[in-house]
Amino acid sequence: MNGVATVTKEIFKPHLEIRGNFSLSGEIQISGAKNSALVLMTAALLTKEKVLINNIPDLTDVDGMANILVNMGVKLNSKLDSIEIQADNLQHVELPYELAHGLRASFFCIGPLLTRLGRAKIPLPGGCQIGARPVVEHIRGLKALGAFVSVEHGKVTASIQGSSKRLKGADIVFDCPSVGATETVLMAAVLADGTTTIENAAQEPEVQDLAKMLNSMGAKVSGAGGPKITIHGVDSLKGCDYTVMPDRIEAGTFLLAAAITQSKLRISPVIPEHLSAVLQKLRDCGCTLEIANDCITITPGEIRGVDLTTQPYPGFPTDLQAPFMALLTIAKGTSVVTEKIYENRMQHVAELQRMGASIRLQGNTAVIEGVPELSGAPIMGGDLRSTAAMVIASLAANGTSRLEGLNHLDRGYAAIEKKLNKAGAHILRHQQ
Ligand code: EPZ
Repeated sequence: MNGVATVTKEIFKPHLEIRGNFSLSGEIQISGAKNSALVLMTAALLTKEKVLINNIPDLTDVDGMANILVNMGVKLNSKLDSIEIQADNLQHVELPYELAHGLRASFFCIGPLLTRLGRAKIPLPGGCQIGARPVVEHIRGLKALGAFVSVEHGKVTASIQGSSKRLKGADIVFDCPSVGATETVLMAAVLADGTTTIENAAQEPEVQDLAKMLNSMGAKVSGAGGPKITIHGVDSLKGCDYTVMPDRIEAGTFLLAAAITQSKLRISPVIPEHLSAVLQKLRDCGCTLEIANDCITITPGEIRGVDLTTQPYPGFPTDLQAPFMALLTIAKGTSVVTEKIYENRMQHVAELQRMGASIRLQGNTAVIEGVPELSGAPIMGGDLRSTAAMVIASLAANGTSRLEGLNHLDRGYAAIEKKLNKAGAHILRHQQ
């Protein structure tokens, strides 16, 4: 070669082209909660009768869960934003790795399959971009209910020994208030013989939504949403017609989009108390919030720096840590953001720095010095919520950003650019 550098043709990657510095207005419609819909779909396995779940968000994670259920022999019909599920002919106790490995929520099938068929074999969900995400608490809970559980070759196998083929109620105390483990034990205990108590239970709204749906199927669950949940086992569950609660994390994401673009915006439907910790931080950093029934109107003032630390619910939600940090990069003054839930949930810091943010990272604590403005840049999301954070940052940046990582974004946000463009943003999706 005569020394001419050969530039390899850049491999095209789907991306969003986001033009910054446009304000938003009007109202944004919030979809059903991803982290509720996914677990409610697995709860439908607990009965042979028809289960109708409404307000299902249009997400790739929901599509993935639907594929898993159909693969198990479940009848599934989607009608607009409702899914009708009937598990009257459950065939497989084992989830195929190729279907389950990309979707952590697939692990939620272990409780219902074990209860219905006496045996379940589920791929170990394993870690992801944000952390190791062990399932120790889930396994401890199932063992306490009398299941035999082994972990071999990357799969978790659970079975009920003895002729009764029925789990036994037990008193369980979690070491950590794991959302998934609380939901797994809930679904395993509702048909157990006797009473189960879960102490140090996760209190997240998604746990409450699951308990509400199980009770509408005839279960006897009390205390969900608090630290101690009591479940009186019943002999069988019936079908139900249930509506998924609004997505509090999507709602918080759009409130932050309004704050960073200095826009007055209404979001609805939302359950305000699901976002108390986030609303408080938005007020602390200079936003006015009007709350009326199931809608919130935000009017941002000058954004001031605030400190925040992620905690289990009702503390500040880890899923809004990255989106909130995007706002704080342009706040007046210094902010300290500490991530206490996951060991590796600061991937957005490097990308925000590429846009001109001034952030010093020490372990899981980020010290953010507000800058007057960010500049548009080619950026990449590393996981679902860090990609959402980059959308928020790009909306207020000077110039245009090219954001890759749509495979992450589409897992948790239904048509995010359509909703933002309807409110005045300028975002183009380039699929190929
Ligand atoms: C759910 O994950 C959500 N996912 C997550 O949302 C959310 O961040 C998380 O709850 C916390 O609110 C779904 O509901 C599908 P955990 P889950 O078990 O159940 C540790 C998003 O962006 N832990 O409460 O996996 C674990 O390592 C996603 O929408 C143990 O140590 O959360 C983590 O650090 C991300 N041992 C912390 O607890 C265990 O046995 C929280 O995990 C289980 C968990």
